[in-house]
Order: sequence, then C-alpha cells, then structure tokens
Amino acid sequence: MCGIVGYIGPRQAAELLLEGLRRLEYRGYDSSGIAVVNGHGLKVMKAAGKLSMLEQQIGDRMPSGTLGIGHTRWATHGAPTTPNAHPHTDQSGRIAIIHNGIIENSTSIRKALEARGHTFKSETDTEVLAHLVGEFYQGDLEDAVAQALRDVDGAYGLAFISADEPGVLVAARKGSPLLVGVGENEWFVASDASPLLQHTRSVVYLDDGELVVLTRDGYRVRNLQSTRISKPVNQIDWDLAMVERNGYPHFMLKEICEQPESLCNTLRGHLLDDEGTSRVHGLNLSDDELKQVGRIVITACGTSWHSGLIGEYMLEEMARVPVEVEYASEFRYRNPVVDHRTLVIGISQSGETADTLAAIREAKRRGARTVGLVNVVGSTIAREVDGGIYLHAGPEVGVASTKAFTSQVAALALVTLRVARLRNLSILQGRQFIEALRRLPEQISEILDRTSEIEALADRFLKTTSNALYLGRGVNFPVALEGALKLKEISYIHAEGYPAAEMKHGPIALIDENMPVVFIAPRDAVHSKIVSNIEEVKARGGKVIALINAGDTEIERLADATFAIPETLDLLTPILTSIPLQLLSYYVAVARGCNVDQPRNLAKSVTVE
Ligand code: AGP
Repeated sequence: MCGIVGYIGPRQAAELLLEGLRRLEYRGYDSSGIAVVNGHGLKVMKAAGKLSMLEQQIGDRMPSGTLGIGHTRWATHGAPTTPNAHPHTDQSGRIAIIHNGIIENSTSIRKALEARGHTFKSETDTEVLAHLVGEFYQGDLEDAVAQALRDVDGAYGLAFISADEPGVLVAARKGSPLLVGVGENEWFVASDASPLLQHTRSVVYLDDGELVVLTRDGYRVRNLQSTRISKPVNQIDWDLAMVERNGYPHFMLKEICEQPESLCNTLRGHLLDDEGTSRVHGLNLSDDELKQVGRIVITACGTSWHSGLIGEYMLEEMARVPVEVEYASEFRYRNPVVDHRTLVIGISQSGETADTLAAIREAKRRGARTVGLVNVVGSTIAREVDGGIYLHAGPEVGVASTKAFTSQVAALALVTLRVARLRNLSILQGRQFIEALRRLPEQISEILDRTSEIEALADRFLKTTSNALYLGRGVNFPVALEGALKLKEISYIHAEGYPAAEMKHGPIALIDENMPVVFIAPRDAVHSKIVSNIEEVKARGGKVIALINAGDTEIERLADATFAIPETLDLLTPILTSIPLQLLSYYVAVARGCNVDQPRNLAKSVTVE
C-alpha cells in the first residue's frame, strides 16, 4: 500500500508534494519520490528509505514548477531501492507516473515492450505502465492513459503528468483508493484525505473504473470509455489537528488515549435506552430482514478479524444466530456456502484491505447481503457493501490498530443488540446492556489514568524477553490473540495468543522461568477455570501477569503481578481488557527503541494481496 499525491495550480508544486507525502508516510515508507514539470521537461527526484532521505537529496534544490506528483512506497514488486522508487517515466523520459496497487499482467506487457525496443530501469510493474502509456502517447495524455488502462489487469490508484502538457494531470482508480481535492483555483489528487486537509475539505471520491482529468480550469471525471461522470463533492469533517499527534510522542499512544472519545463517537446516536435496543439504520436491513438472517459470516484480517471473533461470542450468546468468522484471505479463495439467507459482515478500519474487499465481493456474487463495519468514510469497502456502520473513531494513523479495534467491538455490540432484541432478549436485558455500554468510556479513562503501572509491568516482565504467551478464555480468548499481535507487530517479540485451556494440549511444554505469560482473567463465568490454568503455569515456573478485577485476592496470591480493570458484563470485557494490552505492547516497543508508528515490514492498510 503506498501513498500518492498530485497537484496542479498556481503554487510551486514541490513543497506541497513533500508536505503531502509527510502526511501519507504512514501508508508506506520504504522509498519515495516526486516529479515536477519545470518548463524544460520533467524533474524527477527519488530516494530509498524514509521520506527524510528524499528531503535530504532535494535539499535546497527544490524543483520549480506548478504541476507535480509525489509517492511514498510500500514495496510489492521489486525491492525498496531508489531505481524502484516512484515516480517512474516512459521510454522518452517525458511522461511520469505514480501508482498504488499491482498491475497483474505487467510481465507479459513488459516482454512485448522489450521486443519493441523498450528498456527498463526498474523491476517494477509501474514502470511498465509508464512505458505503455508512452507508446500510446500522440500528444494527448488523457487518451494515452485511457488506452493503456484498457490493456492492464490489476489494481491501481495512479496519476500521470507529461512534460509536453504542463496544464494537465490525469489520474485513475481501480481497486486502490483515490480522491480529488477541490481547492481555490487549485486541484489535488491523493490516496486519502490527510494531505489535503490543510488546503481544502472539499473532496470527490473516485470509484473503480473512473479517470479524472485535472487542468488549470477545473476537473472532469469520466470512465475508460470516455463517458462523462458527475460526482458529488463531499466535505471532510476531520480537521488537521485530528491527524496531527497533538503532542503525544506517537500516534499509537494518542489513539490509545482517544478511546473514551472514540467509543462515544461509535455509540453516538445508536442507543435507544427506553426500548433497550439499538438503531442501526445504516445496515439497510429491515427488522424483518434481520429476523430472517439464518447465518452470519464475519470476514476480516488481522486485528479486525480478532474483533470479529468477539462478535461471534456476542451474536451467538445474545442473538442465538450461528456465526462463523473467516480470514478474508481464506474465504475469498474457498468455495464458501453462502446464499441470500447469509449476512456477511466485513470489518475493516481502512476500508481498503484487498483481501477483505475481495471476500465481500465474493459474498455478493453468491447472493449474500453484505454490511461493513468501517472507519474510513468513503472507503471502497464502505461504498461497495449493501449497508454498514461507520466506526467514527477518527483517523487511525498508527500502523498498530487500537481505537479501531474497540470501536469495532462496540459496533458489533450494536448489531448484536438490535438482532437480539428482535428475537429473545428482553427489554430489561437490553437496557442492562446499554447501561454497561454507556459506562465503558469512563471505565477506559480509569485504566488510562494508570498507565505508569502498565509501563512498570512492561519494564519488569516483557522488555527483554524473546517470547511471550497470552492466554484467555471465552470472549477473552480473542483478546489474547489481539494482545499477542500488538506485541509482535511493534516490538518484534514472538508472542502467541491461546485459549488458556488449550495449553495442556502441547504449548505448556514452552513454560519455564523465561516465559512470561499474560492471563486475561476478569471475574467472569470461566474465572475458576482460568485460576486452574494459572496454577498449571506457576507449577512449571512460568512468570504470570494477570489482568483481573479489583479485589481478586485468589489470583493476586498466585500471579507474579496483576493489573485490575473495572467490572462490566462478560461480553463487554474485551473492550476493557484490550486497553492494558495495547499499552503493554506500546511501552515494550518504546523501551526496545522500535519504530512504534511505522513498524518494519508493515503498512497501515494492505491494499494488495
Ligand atoms: C493491526 O494492528 C494490524 N495493523 C493489521 O492486522 C490490520 O488489522 C489488518 O491489516 C486489517 O486492516 P483493516 O482493518 O484496515 O482491514
């Protein structure tokens, strides 16, 4: 997944592009570059490594020109080297491209072009596309791009400029996000809103198969068959401050600490206290349709898949609907049994994860109703599902997902409540559930007031370890998976999440005095069982850190350390138990000097397979 940004207008483009790339760097950061039409031709500057490497290379030699494109890369084809960095140019060197996505038939196109004398400087599929456009180019960039795109398979969010057309920027999307920023007599294209916010809040979301031509007089949208398309101009309600760190050392800590507010935002307008139910009109499913749902499939990736597992416990326990949770990357290639009676819920913070998008498309092809639980407004998944609930958690910039996770669980609770109250949940039970939901933000704040205790646990037990185990039962088993993923992805410690009872079937062989074991052990229906599991680990010398409810002297006596969390309904405990685990992984990563917001090898949204 990469970040792209383009500009055409009266101002100098280069600095605007670099500023835009700074805001996009979280999308991919292994190389970057800009290209500017400077009156004599194209000035292309690019560098491997972080954006700062490009800025060093440019120094005070900022290229002049008022039309340009910029790119920050997360490698898919070709190593993260300077030759592979975008922008790429065609054979003539007068047409430049930036691209987010994968051209799946680039190998065959490259061979054909090489047979016609083309020579390539990189290993990338993107350079092949540049050469293809160059071959079609007869003085009309828009036409050449449209012709080339009709020949390519794959996913793209891209932009082209030409030294011979200093008043035109051509961009197109298919499978990767792209939007147009409509400024005051200036226009932008970008992968998302973050580079635009300081210039404009007016944006146009492009859909797959659409191409936009920006000129110095405006923009127009069309499809590849030249049919003009009118698009609404949307207003973005995220201000720049929300994107900036607001004084926190890392986006991840900012976003962890935003969870009282983000949870409120997710729940806002959805809770009907008197009726003991929720309002989820966005699902575009009537009560009768919800009642007739025979089965639910939840599909997602990574942390979003973990929230889906919690949704399974909620929906089966309260709404008595059979639920399966599927890795999207597996679901899309299986031959799943899905039909019109199946409700498929896609969960995605970014709304752009390729596997999740493909799984949803597969489900639609098979006749299922699809709904999305998505954070990014206007994202592809949000626009392709039949209905959905926006998380309204605000921009999540840290690669490790935190506030989106708890908002996803809250959104699943809203869906569960609606369906359960249509079936067998009483109004009093519904009101009790709502009351517990409403208390969560304040309870999260109580946890956030004690971060120093968690930092001390990180320092004492996990900072120097090479391995760790996270164990939970019932609805907190997915929390064990999530806690382990958080530690893995930002501190690079090997951690595994497991159902606590499963330890005796093998993994307990791993236990010794060097193995820290984090237990998620609230006073719930399986509390006595997890006490036994703690005893099993202690008997073998393991170090035990336990998340407990206050006053749990039984576990306090057994564990090497405990952290007390507020009490809530069993099914809602994951929203509270996940917070200390987010903080634990954060403090370990900081202590280990890791790049918390941009961990190695990862990107915020995986828009390629
Ligand atoms: C979460 O911390 C990870 N960064 C990753 O697993 C993420 O949850 C996954 O890639 C799914 O992303 P999405 O929610 O945007 O679809």
